[in-house]
Amino acid sequence: MKIERKASPALLPTPVVLLSVAGHDKEKPNIITLAWAGTVCSDPPMLSVAIRPTRHSHRLVDAAREFVVNVPRAEQLELVDLAGVWSGAEHDKFAELGLSASPASRVEAPLIDECPINIECVVRHQLALGAHDLYLAEIVAVQYDEGLLDGHGRVRTQRLAPIAYVEGEYWSLGERIGTYGAAAKASGRR
Ligand SMILES: Cc1cc2nc3c(=O)[nH]c(=O)nc-3n(C[C@H](O)[C@H](O)[C@H](O)COP(=O)(O)O)c2cc1C
Repeated sequence: MKIERKASPALLPTPVVLLSVAGHDKEKPNIITLAWAGTVCSDPPMLSVAIRPTRHSHRLVDAAREFVVNVPRAEQLELVDLAGVWSGAEHDKFAELGLSASPASRVEAPLIDECPINIECVVRHQLALGAHDLYLAEIVAVQYDEGLLDGHGRVRTQRLAPIAYVEGEYWSLGERIGTYGAAAKASGRR
């Protein structure tokens, strides 16, 4: 038996990321916590973020047309939550959260040094959907913490320890339960 509920974004979980963006004119660079972010294309590599037009960060992204998506670790949850409640209109989030703004290689937006993965992005498309604006951005460079990658250049997931978001709750990732294509290989069917 199924229970039908009102239509809502029920694709769960979603990742939790910190978007950093350069300040406009003499403003400080800013950080915004986002749970509505996703991978949308592999070639060219692209991701999406959805930001409400009322956010301080929305104005900064509109001005800069580029940003960095920083992947935080579970142990950084407190600052992730604070960056998602405070506004850059009143807070210097880099300074108050004790984070270091490091230069990115391909965009003007600073990256958050303390985050293990920093994805440098340039906005290619913007769609006004309603409550949120969708930004589709090309990934122009990615920085990884030394030690996050194994000898084959693959991410060590346990060291990454990403945060998942489910209806107002933060969750950590559990155990690995399989690998791509293993079931098809074992079955002998394609
Ligand atoms: C876990 C979490 C996820 C969030 N996801 C989004 C999101 O996807 N889009 C959005 O516009 N705001 C999102 N927010 C709200 C913003 O992070 C929040 O309003 C923030 O204070 C805006 O900062 P700013 O005014 O400096 O831009 C989220 C907040 C939290 C705590």
